[in-house]
Amino acid sequence: MQTELLSSEIINIQKAAKLIANGEVIGMPTETVYGLAADALNEGAVKKIFTAKGRPADNPLIVHIAELSSLDFLVHDIPEVALKLAQKFWPGPLTMVLKKNNCIPEITSGGLDTVGIRMPSHPIARELIKASGKVLAAPSANLSGSPSPTTAKHVFDDMCGKIPLIIDGGTCDVGIESTVISFENGNVRLLRPGFISVEDLLTVSEQVYTDSGILGKVDESEKVLSPGMKYKHYSPKAEVIIVNGDFEQFCKFMEIHNSEDVCAMVFDRDRDNYPYSCLTYGDTSIEQAHEIFDKLREIDTLNVKTVYVRAPSSKGVGLAVYNRLLRAAGFEVINL
Ligand code: TXA
Ligand code: MG
Repeated sequence: MQTELLSSEIINIQKAAKLIANGEVIGMPTETVYGLAADALNEGAVKKIFTAKGRPADNPLIVHIAELSSLDFLVHDIPEVALKLAQKFWPGPLTMVLKKNNCIPEITSGGLDTVGIRMPSHPIARELIKASGKVLAAPSANLSGSPSPTTAKHVFDDMCGKIPLIIDGGTCDVGIESTVISFENGNVRLLRPGFISVEDLLTVSEQVYTDSGILGKVDESEKVLSPGMKYKHYSPKAEVIIVNGDFEQFCKFMEIHNSEDVCAMVFDRDRDNYPYSCLTYGDTSIEQAHEIFDKLREIDTLNVKTVYVRAPSSKGVGLAVYNRLLRAAGFEVINL
């Protein structure tokens, strides 16, 4: 199959919407990361998403909507707190796991009786949903296991020959995937941290339970609340190791560990004082979220065997950055 990479002109969005209405999969920009979008209620179309990604069948997809009224036919028994969160954070990078109605096929929900719903804020994503007249299943548009794509080129690198069309919406603003939450006793449980932080959620929900899978390892055979937690993720080919410590400690550590096969990834502000070659990934958590996946992909162009990453802050949006890095590192952390 030939893969077209087209600008976001209205005529191209209409072409993409038509492909979606005809049961095809297209590459779509969102404010978080690019998605592989198809009609969420069309089993055959959703199957094509799983095939293109090489995704395990038990890992459910998020359904993307453009209007709040779509909730009525997709889900039931919506908790009060979910409606308040929708009011405050939608459209935006928040996914809520709710009880699904029968119209959502099992393949979309990975066999679960719940479904993750998100209303993206990106104008192209919203336009595509409206123009296709569908609600869109859309996982991140990477091959399963690879870093999520934050540019149309990343999508092209992973999906060339597998999907007919990618719409180029530039670099994604946020850079990491949406916050995923479920509900328990009228409160929120965090399943995947994202740009909407625990602190943000606490402005609406009295309590936010955090799951051990966010900063800890989950066994592949374990039953988990969110199937995505158990798979290795975001990994470049090189081994990624997180190093916890201040800049001075990090430099001392690298004095011993630096070699031709090794690269470091430090903060932007460290670069001028770091004595060896390195990548950098921003200073603030928001900058780090924006850059992390692009840098994880860049590692593969360097031909190194090991990358030591200076550990980010795990506060606020930093929790999401740390979570993605931990998965890229297969939970390998050195504490100095
Ligand atoms: O920002 C995002 O959420 C992006 C863009 C494209 O919207 N999408 C995305 O989808 O990251 P995906 O499929 O790569 O990640 C969805 C995550 C997975 O970890 C999955 O296990 C979890 O959400 N998830 C989806 N439905 C769920 C459900 N019903 N219960 C628990 N976890 C669910
Ligand atoms: Mg993903």
